[in-house]
Amino acid sequence: MKVTVVGAGAVGASCAEYIAIKNFASEVVLLDIKEGYAEGKAMDLMQTASLNGFDTKITGTTNDYSKTAGSDIAVITSGIPRKPGMTREELIGINAGIVKSVSSSLIEHSPNAIIIVVSNPMDTMTYLVHKTTDLPKNRIIGMGGALDSARFKYRLAEALGAPISDVDGMVIGGHSDKGMVPLTRLATRNSVPVSEYISDERLEQVAADTKVGGATLTGLLGTSAWYAPGAAVSGLVQAIACDQKKIFPCSTLLEGEYGLNDLCIGAPVVLGRNGIEKVVEINLSDAEKAKLSESAEGVKKTNGLLEL
Ligand code: NAI
Repeated sequence: MKVTVVGAGAVGASCAEYIAIKNFASEVVLLDIKEGYAEGKAMDLMQTASLNGFDTKITGTTNDYSKTAGSDIAVITSGIPRKPGMTREELIGINAGIVKSVSSSLIEHSPNAIIIVVSNPMDTMTYLVHKTTDLPKNRIIGMGGALDSARFKYRLAEALGAPISDVDGMVIGGHSDKGMVPLTRLATRNSVPVSEYISDERLEQVAADTKVGGATLTGLLGTSAWYAPGAAVSGLVQAIACDQKKIFPCSTLLEGEYGLNDLCIGAPVVLGRNGIEKVVEINLSDAEKAKLSESAEGVKKTNGLLEL
């Protein structure tokens, strides 16, 4: 299993590290445009192999796509992250050009790869890859919901005073502060709805804190987060590489599911060796449907900024 990660910055390197530590891939190639940067990150990571006990071979390259040839999975993290006070949507101008050229170079050398898009604004960047390549929809996956759901579980556990392994919850919709739809009604602690334990007001606060989870970290760090994003990407890569058939909320091209069309937005999907093997349609309440359709409007507005 060969995995390429484009962008050896904060998220790309974290993702490569988690993939290596989980020890399921034979090879990870890090590629960056910055001279020597990916090579340096790869060497540093390889020097953790004997300490962390993994056999994955990590190599780095400065923009030489021939080194990525034959990748089974390719992750796109190249582009600029937001600074405090910025929205993800403000990154579109620079990141659209980067994502378009990177995806085309990746596919040229790895025509069978499954592409995972991470660069922001992620739903729109995922849509861009659909519009500018001829890959089938099962092989284009946007990572956002897996991270947002992990942040939701963190906030739920905090509100409940429970260990995180006790709670379950999912965030669907667009990967933006306004567009996320944390499914509070369906969140559980050991199969019991969390609403049995905490007030509606507290649950609404959990949802609100989840939606600004990225912005909160950007305020603290001065740039966007990397550990949880890297771990979330590695979870998707592992589900595909090991054909796990796990369900994650991912940005996917909807064609009528949830009453939505012609956009990529977060919905629960089954991930296996063929990438997105199924979009799962869960029964949403009228209020949840309204939030999802409002979120879709926001994503479509950002998509409208693309020069296709
Ligand atoms: P970073 O600045 O640390 O790393 C980005 C890397 O991309 C840099 O090393 C840069 O040299 C490289 N790069 C730029 N243009 C390139 C090109 N044409 N080819 C190859 N490499 C190129 O940024 P960070 O924090 O790693 O974030 C990366 C992206 O991921 C940002 O757009 C950020 O907003 C997004 N992100 C998305 C998340 C999600 O849940 N979808 C979560 C966190 C970040």
